Amino acid sequence: MDKVIVTRKIPQKFIEQLEQSYEVYMWDEAYEPMPRDQFLESIKDATACFITLSEKIDDTVIDQAPNLKVIANMAVGFDNIDVSLAQSRGIVVTNTPKVLTETTAELGFTLMLTVARRIVEAEHYVQQGDWQSWAPYLLAGKDLFNSKVGIYGMGDIGKAFARRLKGFNTQVMYHNRTRNRHAEEKLGALYVPFDTLIEHSDFIICTAPLTEETRNKFDKPVFEKMKSDAIFINIGRGAVVDEKALIDALQNKEIAGCGLDVLRKEPIDMSHPLLKMDNVVILPHIGSASVTTRDRMVQLCVDNITRVLNNQPPKTPVQLDD
Ligand code: GLV
Repeated sequence: MDKVIVTRKIPQKFIEQLEQSYEVYMWDEAYEPMPRDQFLESIKDATACFITLSEKIDDTVIDQAPNLKVIANMAVGFDNIDVSLAQSRGIVVTNTPKVLTETTAELGFTLMLTVARRIVEAEHYVQQGDWQSWAPYLLAGKDLFNSKVGIYGMGDIGKAFARRLKGFNTQVMYHNRTRNRHAEEKLGALYVPFDTLIEHSDFIICTAPLTEETRNKFDKPVFEKMKSDAIFINIGRGAVVDEKALIDALQNKEIAGCGLDVLRKEPIDMSHPLLKMDNVVILPHIGSASVTTRDRMVQLCVDNITRVLNNQPPKTPVQLDD
C-alpha cells in the first residue's frame, strides 16, 4: 500500500479521503512542524508527501526517499523545494495556485490600510489608557485615496490587489518580469521600469515569489530611492527584502512605514529590531489564512496526491521556467 506523509495536522475529513486508498502518517501537532529527523525517517518508504513551507526539500530528503512520486506543497510559493532536483528524479511537485489568490490579496490590502491608518498603534493607544481627548493630529496617517500605488509582481495576487484598488481612486503602476496586458487593459495598471515604481509610489506592494532574480531585490539603494513618506508592504517572500537595509531606511526616515506578512526568518526572533518600531506591522505569514481558503488548499494537495498515485496528471503541477 502506498504511504503518504502529512507533515502538519489537517482536518480529519481530508485524512479520511487519503485513508481510503493509502496508509497515512500525519504529524499530529497543530502549531509545530514535524522535526527534521522524524521527517527524514518517515519519508524513507513514502510514495507521497504533503508538506508546507516549513519543510525544506533538498538533496538529503530526496536521497532518502527512493519511492517518492509526488510532493504536494500547501502553498503557491515553492522556494522551499529544490524542484529541478525532484523533477530530475521523476518526482512530481505540486503547489496551490489560484485557490488562495483573493484571500492573500485581501490580507495585503488589510495590511496596507492598517499601516497607512496606524491601526495597531491606535489600538494600543486605547488599550493603554492614553486616550485623553480628541486632538487635531492624533494618530494622523496617510490616505490611500488619491495616491500612487506600485505593485511589484503582477501575477494572480498582484492583479487581485490591483482590482481591489479600483474603488480607491488611486493611480496604479506595476513592474513585473513580463508585461501583463490584461492588468493594463482591464485594471488600468501602468507598466513602469522598477526604478520608476520605487521612486514615484506612495505605497509599494511586493507580491513577488522568491527566485534568483528577486532575492534581495529591495536593498539599500532601492529604499534610498523611495519617497520619504512611502509605505512598503511585503506579502511575497521575506528574502526578497534585505532586512538590514529596511531597518536602516525606517530608522533614517527614508520611508515612513512598512507592513510585512513574510520575513527572512520565520518565526521572527523576539529581539528583532523591526518589532520595536511603531510604524511597522508584522504578521505571522497569514496571507492565505481564511478557513475556506485553507480548506481549498488542503483539498487541492489531497487531489494532486491522489491523481499522481493513480498515474493521472496532477491538477496544479509546478512548472519551472527555462
Ligand atoms: C504562502 O506564502 C504561499 O506561498 O502560499
